[in-house]
Amino acid sequence: MKGRAQVIIGAQWGDEGKGRVVDFLGKNVDIFARYQGGANAGHTVIVEGSKYVFHLLPSGMLYPCKVCIIGNGVVIDPEQLIYELRMLQDQGKDRARLVVSGAAHVVMPYHKLLDQAHENFRGRGKKIGTTGRGIGPCYVDKYNRMGIRMEDLLDPDLLREKLSSNLDLKNLQLTRIFNIEPMAFDEVYKKALEWGKILEPYIADASLILNEALNSGKNVLFEGAQGTLLDVDHGTYPFVTSSNPVSAGACIGMGVAPTIIDSVTGVVKAYSTRVGSGPFPTEDEGEIGEYLREKGGEYGATTGRPRRCGWLDLVALSYAVRLNGMDNIALTKLDVLTGLEEIKVCTGYMLNDEVLGSFPTNVNLLEKVTPLFKTMKGWTEDLGACRKFEDLPEAARNYIEFIEEATRVSIGLIGVGPQREETIIREI
Ligand code: IMP
Repeated sequence: MKGRAQVIIGAQWGDEGKGRVVDFLGKNVDIFARYQGGANAGHTVIVEGSKYVFHLLPSGMLYPCKVCIIGNGVVIDPEQLIYELRMLQDQGKDRARLVVSGAAHVVMPYHKLLDQAHENFRGRGKKIGTTGRGIGPCYVDKYNRMGIRMEDLLDPDLLREKLSSNLDLKNLQLTRIFNIEPMAFDEVYKKALEWGKILEPYIADASLILNEALNSGKNVLFEGAQGTLLDVDHGTYPFVTSSNPVSAGACIGMGVAPTIIDSVTGVVKAYSTRVGSGPFPTEDEGEIGEYLREKGGEYGATTGRPRRCGWLDLVALSYAVRLNGMDNIALTKLDVLTGLEEIKVCTGYMLNDEVLGSFPTNVNLLEKVTPLFKTMKGWTEDLGACRKFEDLPEAARNYIEFIEEATRVSIGLIGVGPQREETIIREI
């Protein structure tokens, strides 16, 4: 009998608390699979009082006897991966077995230089605000059919050939376009060979392993990085990342068929945040934004940048429900709203005196919309001890039910505090 294939995605601009939800659901999962993005992500998990931030490793690494897979759709910075693995090994916490797809692309040192150089080139007001981790340039090489894949690190001759033709071009770009020092072939080649030696035990045919495991009854959880509105096709382009965080990305990025997916859970933060540039209709640049940032600890897990904050946006969320085919929602950080007299939630957008029927995919329009807010009553009671929906204050229950009505998706999990156990489960 086939095992259960569950996809967890971010429904906003990333940082919804996916790592925490994945970790909570992990008990019934045999395999954790990451399918896109790279070290631009930052998954924070708090277990037994200790905080772990993973950029590349799937959040399931802290579970004993599980398998964690990094799929072909991920772009891997081997230095970062080795660092995260060693950190866990040093603490005796490398409890899961790791598999890395041989077809995943390698983020090379020149990708990081080019990422930063491109950002500087874009100039004021045009910057995307990337994490500088080389993500865009690595995906460019992948689609330009010149990228280096993890399996190439295991073949010194092929690696020499591929790296040499790559570096010839990259050094021209670095020196002639961006006025940056070129990279020495020998140094990069030596490093890449070392990465291959260290990571060889993990590199395998991830799609085959995953499909066989599913067919033998193992339960798989696909964990998306970033969020729907950062999707390169469906997000607020060009202020997006270079991969597909939407649920369909799981199939391409892991080598599984769409027909095997059983459910999609969208992780939604009880308010909105965004790092980097781009339109954000419900952003609050005043007191409320500051309150959410400080109370919610809204600083980037990867870059430490303060996140832009604002109210929950149901227009954007309904768009994310449609794109991902969400079966249910996991609502995180509800406790951050505690203490606010009033809570606003965006129920529509106005553009040129008209109410828009759906989320505009054109950022030039999105930049011009005015959000329409419904104001709801807040609550002051501490939520940390609530374990059932009925334990929540009435105002909090109303807020949740309002989101469910607007999106027509039920909220099966509610985060009421940062610890694993500070969670209400309804159905998921
Ligand atoms: P890149 O993915 O580094 O190219 O950055 C592109 C955009 O995606 C920037 O606005 C980043 O701030 C944003 N971004 C990338 N990864 C994350 C994430 O994990 N959480 C939130 N925003 C992200």
